[in-house]
Amino acid sequence: MKAAIPSVLLLLIVSTLSAQKITGPLSPHFQQWLQANGYASNDFIRGDLGSSGSFGGRADENQKIINQPVVFVHGNSDLALQKDAVSTYQTGWDQTAAFFMKEGYTAAELYATTWGPAQSSQALQQTYKCEYVLRIRRFIEAVLAYTNTSKIDIIGHSMGVALSRRAVKGGSECNLGAALTDRVDTFLGLAGVNYGLCTCQYAGIITTCNANDGFFPGQCGSQSICAFTLQECVQTQYATFMQNLNEDPTKEGENIFAFWSNNDEILGQGSKAFGKVTARIPNMNGSKTYNSLKHMDVKDKTGADQIKAVRDHVIDMTDLPGGGLQGNGSNLPTWSLPDLSGLISSGLAALQGGGRPENRPNLPMLNLPDIPSLFSSSLQSISDSLKNLFNGRLIL
Ligand SMILES: *[C@@H]1O[C@H](CO)[C@@H](O)[C@H](O)[C@H]1NC(C)=O
Ligand SMILES: *[C@@H]1O[C@H](CO)[C@@H](O)[C@H](O)[C@H]1NC(C)=O
Ligand SMILES: *[C@@H]1O[C@H](CO)[C@@H](O)[C@H](O)[C@H]1NC(C)=O
Repeated sequence: MKAAIPSVLLLLIVSTLSAQKITGPLSPHFQQWLQANGYASNDFIRGDLGSSGSFGGRADENQKIINQPVVFVHGNSDLALQKDAVSTYQTGWDQTAAFFMKEGYTAAELYATTWGPAQSSQALQQTYKCEYVLRIRRFIEAVLAYTNTSKIDIIGHSMGVALSRRAVKGGSECNLGAALTDRVDTFLGLAGVNYGLCTCQYAGIITTCNANDGFFPGQCGSQSICAFTLQECVQTQYATFMQNLNEDPTKEGENIFAFWSNNDEILGQGSKAFGKVTARIPNMNGSKTYNSLKHMDVKDKTGADQIKAVRDHVIDMTDLPGGGLQGNGSNLPTWSLPDLSGLISSGLAALQGGGRPENRPNLPMLNLPDIPSLFSSSLQSISDSLKNLFNGRLIL
């Protein structure tokens, strides 16, 4: 019986070690490497965000890299690591990284920088612009060179999905150069916006919703309301950046997966635009749908599934507790009914006269007074999204 004591102690030590938390910013060793290899001006450290601006890197020259390194790309106004205990939409990759460390990954194998201003007050100004794509591309290149590995994995969340898809595909659009497909083992998109956002349908005037590099969902046959699509239709004239991305056959990696939720308060009910999931990635190998997760949960609570996808190339089809997997629609969550009239009138007042994006002059304008009587159920999800949008809390 005495012999059991040391192994219990050992277990305790091991579990303490494996509960290790990732800390930012980039390790001094990686910082020095970036400095010496021409990356100083990229400021991948993001010291303006304290220790939350970045993470990853070896402790010293001798630390071995065993697991395939993973690059994480956050969404709109989010950052590499959690900003503080209260900012709901700025939770960073802390919880995900903790899962990976529990599975034996080290900080030398997990990498992120912050690509945007990380200010929720600026969320409505954020777009899929080349500046961000180039920054993400350069960070991926730096991690590949620094870790000296032939392939990495990439996990993006929300707006970070399409940005990093473009970064990997390369091409002339942002003068990116050749595709990095051969250097990416698994590309995993979490709650991405690849086919637009219904909230933006009549809000093209808002920068983040614009029809060039914003989330504008375009139009779809005879269907007039994106969030309440009555029949199958072909989506056209959605924002150019997304359209070019989806029509480019270059792959994002050898294995491509996407996760999303039916209860995503930002992407809308079912995470759909015009009846099809906006988080899907063309030519993906597989996907997983959660029923109960909110937008940030798809990043923060799915670490165990993320590891299976990028390391084992397998999707675990069991849902999380409280979930109830797979939308056959029967157990979709009930959406709360907010103050519709206030939201819709303040939201749509801002859109009046400007709701039709400049470069889509032939789009039909919504006949506002007709909506409530016709589409009250879709108004719930539109108004939920508008609430986020007009509180300046839109995070993608
Ligand atoms: C990178 O890896 C290759 C083999 O995979 C090795 O030959 C080379 O020395 C490594 N370079 C550095 C800087 O460690
Ligand atoms: C994903 O599809 C590609 C071919 O398009 C294939 O090479 C790869 O093995 C597939 N991955 C999985 C996990 O099935
Ligand atoms: C939908 O899924 C639920 C739970 O998974 C199941 O009980 C129900 O029979 C399914 N309905 C249809 C029409 O497939």
